[in-house]
Amino acid sequence: MRKPIIAGNWKMNKTIKEALELINSLKRELVYIEGVDIIVCPPYTALSDASEILMDSNIKLGAQDVYWEHSGAFTGEVSALMLKDVGCEYVILGHSERRKYFFETDEAVNKKIKTSLSVGLTPICCVGETLDEREEEKTFDIIKRQLQGALKDLSQEDISRLVIAYEPVWAIGTGKTATPVQAEEVHKFIRTWLERHYSYQTSQELRILYGGSVKPSNTKELMREDDIDGALVGGASLESVTFIEIVKNAI
Ligand code: 13P
Repeated sequence: MRKPIIAGNWKMNKTIKEALELINSLKRELVYIEGVDIIVCPPYTALSDASEILMDSNIKLGAQDVYWEHSGAFTGEVSALMLKDVGCEYVILGHSERRKYFFETDEAVNKKIKTSLSVGLTPICCVGETLDEREEEKTFDIIKRQLQGALKDLSQEDISRLVIAYEPVWAIGTGKTATPVQAEEVHKFIRTWLERHYSYQTSQELRILYGGSVKPSNTKELMREDDIDGALVGGASLESVTFIEIVKNAI
Protein backbone atom coordinates (compact mmCIF):
# COMPACT_ATOMS: atom_id res chain seq x y z
CA MET A 1 0.00 0.00 0.00
CA ARG A 2 1.58 3.26 -1.10
CA LYS A 3 1.30 6.20 1.27
CA PRO A 4 -0.19 9.20 -0.55
CA ILE A 5 1.73 12.44 -0.98
CA ILE A 6 0.29 15.91 -1.28
CA ALA A 7 2.97 18.39 -2.29
CA GLY A 8 2.54 22.13 -2.74
CA ASN A 9 4.64 23.76 -5.46
CA TRP A 10 4.47 27.44 -4.63
CA LYS A 11 6.43 28.44 -7.73
CA MET A 12 7.59 32.08 -7.67
CA ASN A 13 5.12 33.24 -5.05
CA LYS A 14 5.25 34.61 -1.50
CA THR A 15 7.62 36.81 0.44
CA ILE A 16 9.15 35.34 3.58
CA LYS A 17 6.43 36.88 5.72
CA GLU A 18 3.65 35.51 3.53
CA ALA A 19 5.32 32.12 3.39
CA LEU A 20 5.57 31.89 7.16
CA GLU A 21 1.93 32.89 7.61
CA LEU A 22 0.85 30.11 5.29
CA ILE A 23 3.17 27.54 6.85
CA ASN A 24 2.06 28.41 10.37
CA SER A 25 -1.53 27.99 9.38
CA LEU A 26 -0.87 24.63 7.66
CA LYS A 27 1.08 23.43 10.67
CA ARG A 28 -1.76 24.32 13.03
CA GLU A 29 -4.49 22.72 10.95
CA LEU A 30 -2.66 19.62 9.79
CA VAL A 31 -0.93 18.67 13.03
CA TYR A 32 -3.12 15.60 13.65
CA ILE A 33 -3.16 14.40 10.07
CA GLU A 34 -1.65 10.97 9.50
CA GLY A 35 -1.56 8.62 6.56
CA VAL A 36 -0.37 11.16 4.02
CA ASP A 37 3.03 12.72 3.40
CA ILE A 38 2.63 16.49 3.25
CA ILE A 39 5.29 18.56 1.49
CA VAL A 40 5.60 22.28 0.83
CA CYS A 41 8.03 23.72 -1.72
CA PRO A 42 8.39 27.46 -1.11
CA PRO A 43 10.79 29.66 -3.09
CA TYR A 44 14.47 29.50 -2.09
CA THR A 45 14.31 32.75 -0.09
CA ALA A 46 11.80 31.31 2.37
CA LEU A 47 13.40 27.88 2.84
CA SER A 48 15.53 28.71 5.85
CA ASP A 49 12.73 30.24 7.94
CA ALA A 50 10.26 27.62 6.74
CA SER A 51 12.65 24.89 7.81
CA GLU A 52 12.88 26.26 11.33
CA ILE A 53 9.11 26.43 11.73
CA LEU A 54 8.59 22.98 10.27
CA MET A 55 11.16 21.27 12.46
CA ASP A 56 9.47 18.37 14.30
CA SER A 57 6.26 18.81 12.33
CA ASN A 58 4.53 16.37 9.98
CA ILE A 59 5.08 18.74 7.04
CA LYS A 60 8.24 18.20 5.01
CA LEU A 61 10.18 20.78 3.08
CA GLY A 62 11.09 20.68 -0.60
CA ALA A 63 12.78 22.98 -3.12
CA GLN A 64 11.70 23.70 -6.67
CA ASP A 65 14.99 23.06 -8.45
CA VAL A 66 18.70 22.43 -7.89
CA TYR A 67 21.94 22.62 -9.84
CA TRP A 68 23.89 19.45 -10.57
CA GLU A 69 27.34 20.60 -9.44
CA HIS A 70 28.19 20.53 -5.74
CA SER A 71 29.95 23.91 -5.59
CA GLY A 72 31.91 26.38 -7.67
CA ALA A 73 31.56 29.30 -10.04
CA PHE A 74 27.92 28.90 -11.08
CA THR A 75 26.44 32.31 -10.37
CA GLY A 76 22.83 32.20 -9.33
CA GLU A 77 22.64 28.45 -8.76
CA VAL A 78 21.92 26.45 -5.60
CA SER A 79 23.46 23.04 -4.89
CA ALA A 80 21.89 19.88 -3.52
CA LEU A 81 24.11 20.08 -0.45
CA MET A 82 22.82 23.60 0.22
CA LEU A 83 19.25 22.36 0.02
CA LYS A 84 20.04 19.53 2.38
CA ASP A 85 21.79 21.99 4.66
CA VAL A 86 18.73 24.24 4.83
CA GLY A 87 16.49 21.31 5.76
CA CYS A 88 14.98 20.17 2.47
CA GLU A 89 14.09 16.52 2.04
CA TYR A 90 12.57 16.80 -1.44
CA VAL A 91 13.30 18.64 -4.66
CA ILE A 92 11.04 19.10 -7.68
CA LEU A 93 12.97 18.41 -10.89
CA GLY A 94 12.11 18.76 -14.56
CA HIS A 95 8.99 20.81 -14.03
CA SER A 96 7.48 21.81 -17.38
CA GLU A 97 7.96 25.49 -16.54
CA ARG A 98 11.69 24.86 -16.19
CA ARG A 99 11.70 22.91 -19.42
CA LYS A 100 9.78 25.67 -21.23
CA TYR A 101 11.22 28.91 -19.84
CA PHE A 102 14.71 27.75 -18.91
CA PHE A 103 15.27 25.20 -21.69
CA GLU A 104 15.87 22.36 -19.31
CA THR A 105 16.57 19.10 -21.12
CA ASP A 106 16.05 15.48 -20.07
CA GLU A 107 19.82 15.24 -19.76
CA ALA A 108 19.92 18.14 -17.28
CA VAL A 109 17.08 16.57 -15.30
CA ASN A 110 19.06 13.33 -15.20
CA LYS A 111 22.14 15.07 -13.80
CA LYS A 112 20.04 16.90 -11.23
CA ILE A 113 18.38 13.66 -10.11
CA LYS A 114 21.75 11.98 -9.65
CA THR A 115 23.17 14.88 -7.64
CA SER A 116 20.06 15.08 -5.48
CA LEU A 117 20.14 11.36 -4.73
CA SER A 118 23.83 11.54 -3.88
CA VAL A 119 23.10 13.84 -0.93
CA GLY A 120 19.94 12.06 0.17
CA LEU A 121 17.32 14.38 -1.29
CA THR A 122 14.22 12.76 -2.78
CA PRO A 123 13.63 14.02 -6.31
CA ILE A 124 10.08 14.58 -7.50
CA CYS A 125 10.67 14.07 -11.20
CA CYS A 126 8.06 15.71 -13.44
CA VAL A 127 6.97 14.48 -16.84
CA GLY A 128 4.09 15.53 -19.07
CA GLU A 129 2.98 16.29 -22.60
CA THR A 130 1.83 19.56 -24.16
CA LEU A 131 -1.62 19.99 -25.72
CA ASP A 132 -0.19 19.70 -29.25
CA GLU A 133 1.59 16.50 -28.33
CA ARG A 134 -1.61 15.05 -26.86
CA GLU A 135 -3.64 16.04 -29.90
CA GLU A 136 -1.05 14.43 -32.16
CA GLU A 137 -1.41 11.29 -30.04
CA LYS A 138 2.21 11.46 -28.95
CA THR A 139 1.54 11.43 -25.20
CA PHE A 140 3.05 8.01 -24.49
CA ASP A 141 6.07 8.66 -26.74
CA ILE A 142 6.79 11.90 -24.89
CA ILE A 143 6.41 10.34 -21.46
CA LYS A 144 8.64 7.44 -22.50
CA ARG A 145 11.31 9.81 -23.84
CA GLN A 146 11.22 11.91 -20.68
CA LEU A 147 11.46 8.84 -18.44
CA GLN A 148 14.29 7.32 -20.48
CA GLY A 149 16.21 10.60 -20.40
CA ALA A 150 15.61 11.60 -16.81
CA LEU A 151 16.21 8.14 -15.35
CA LYS A 152 19.18 7.20 -17.55
CA ASP A 153 21.77 5.02 -15.80
CA LEU A 154 19.95 5.03 -12.47
CA SER A 155 20.12 1.82 -10.49
CA GLN A 156 17.12 0.00 -9.15
CA GLU A 157 18.00 1.32 -5.72
CA ASP A 158 18.11 4.91 -7.06
CA ILE A 159 14.72 4.46 -8.68
CA SER A 160 13.21 3.21 -5.45
CA ARG A 161 14.10 6.56 -3.86
CA LEU A 162 12.23 8.66 -6.43
CA VAL A 163 8.79 10.16 -6.70
CA ILE A 164 7.39 10.78 -10.19
CA ALA A 165 4.82 13.45 -11.02
CA TYR A 166 2.71 13.31 -14.15
CA GLU A 167 1.81 16.87 -15.04
CA PRO A 168 0.13 17.32 -18.40
CA VAL A 169 1.28 20.78 -19.49
CA TRP A 170 -2.17 21.67 -20.83
CA ALA A 171 -3.65 21.16 -17.36
CA ILE A 172 -1.20 23.37 -15.46
CA GLY A 173 -2.66 26.65 -14.28
CA THR A 174 -5.45 26.39 -16.83
CA GLY A 175 -8.26 25.12 -14.63
CA LYS A 176 -8.48 22.21 -17.08
CA THR A 177 -7.81 19.05 -15.08
CA ALA A 178 -7.13 15.76 -16.78
CA THR A 179 -10.08 13.46 -16.13
CA PRO A 180 -9.33 10.64 -13.72
CA VAL A 181 -9.44 8.26 -16.70
CA GLN A 182 -6.97 10.36 -18.73
CA ALA A 183 -4.62 10.69 -15.78
CA GLU A 184 -4.85 7.03 -14.77
CA GLU A 185 -4.05 5.92 -18.31
CA VAL A 186 -0.71 7.75 -18.16
CA HIS A 187 0.01 6.76 -14.55
CA LYS A 188 -0.51 3.12 -15.47
CA PHE A 189 1.74 3.57 -18.49
CA ILE A 190 4.48 4.98 -16.24
CA ARG A 191 4.14 2.13 -13.75
CA THR A 192 4.25 -0.48 -16.48
CA TRP A 193 7.31 1.20 -17.98
CA LEU A 194 9.00 1.06 -14.57
CA GLU A 195 8.12 -2.59 -14.18
CA ARG A 196 9.57 -3.39 -17.59
CA HIS A 197 12.82 -1.52 -16.94
CA TYR A 198 13.35 -2.24 -13.24
CA SER A 199 11.14 -4.66 -11.37
CA TYR A 200 7.58 -5.38 -10.42
CA GLN A 201 8.31 -4.52 -6.80
CA THR A 202 9.95 -1.19 -7.67
CA SER A 203 7.04 -0.27 -9.90
CA GLN A 204 4.55 -1.12 -7.18
CA GLU A 205 6.34 0.84 -4.48
CA LEU A 206 7.11 4.03 -6.37
CA ARG A 207 4.66 6.84 -5.85
CA ILE A 208 3.29 8.65 -8.90
CA LEU A 209 1.62 12.02 -8.32
CA TYR A 210 -0.76 13.86 -10.60
CA GLY A 211 -0.39 17.61 -11.12
CA GLY A 212 -2.45 20.10 -13.10
CA SER A 213 -5.31 22.17 -11.71
CA VAL A 214 -5.77 19.96 -8.66
CA LYS A 215 -8.35 21.45 -6.28
CA PRO A 216 -10.34 20.23 -3.30
CA SER A 217 -13.24 19.29 -5.56
CA ASN A 218 -11.29 16.93 -7.83
CA THR A 219 -8.78 15.39 -5.41
CA LYS A 220 -10.93 12.47 -4.29
CA GLU A 221 -11.91 11.32 -7.76
CA LEU A 222 -8.31 11.46 -8.96
CA MET A 223 -7.01 9.63 -5.91
CA ARG A 224 -9.57 6.90 -6.35
CA GLU A 225 -7.65 5.66 -9.37
CA ASP A 226 -5.33 2.70 -8.75
CA ASP A 227 -2.11 4.32 -9.90
CA ILE A 228 -2.58 7.90 -8.67
CA ASP A 229 -0.78 8.22 -5.36
CA GLY A 230 -1.22 11.89 -4.64
CA ALA A 231 -0.91 15.34 -6.11
CA LEU A 232 1.57 18.05 -6.92
CA VAL A 233 -0.49 21.16 -6.38
CA GLY A 234 0.28 24.62 -7.77
CA GLY A 235 -2.28 27.42 -7.42
CA ALA A 236 -4.41 25.70 -4.79
CA SER A 237 -1.36 25.27 -2.52
CA LEU A 238 -1.04 29.03 -2.10
CA GLU A 239 -4.09 29.29 0.17
CA SER A 240 -4.20 27.40 3.43
CA VAL A 241 -7.91 26.57 3.16
CA THR A 242 -7.66 24.87 -0.21
CA PHE A 243 -4.39 23.07 0.49
CA ILE A 244 -5.70 21.74 3.81
CA GLU A 245 -8.84 20.47 2.13
CA ILE A 246 -6.81 18.74 -0.58
CA VAL A 247 -4.67 17.04 2.07
CA LYS A 248 -7.77 15.87 3.95
CA ASN A 249 -9.37 14.62 0.74
CA ALA A 250 -6.31 12.53 -0.02
CA ILE A 251 -6.63 10.23 2.97
P1 13P B 1 -1.62 24.19 -10.91
O1 13P B 1 -2.10 23.34 -9.78
O2 13P B 1 -1.63 25.66 -10.61
O3 13P B 1 -2.28 23.83 -12.21
O4 13P B 1 -0.05 23.84 -11.11
C1 13P B 1 0.34 22.53 -11.17
C2 13P B 1 1.80 22.46 -11.09
O5 13P B 1 2.50 22.92 -11.97
C3 13P B 1 2.40 21.85 -9.88
O6 13P B 1 3.76 21.65 -10.05
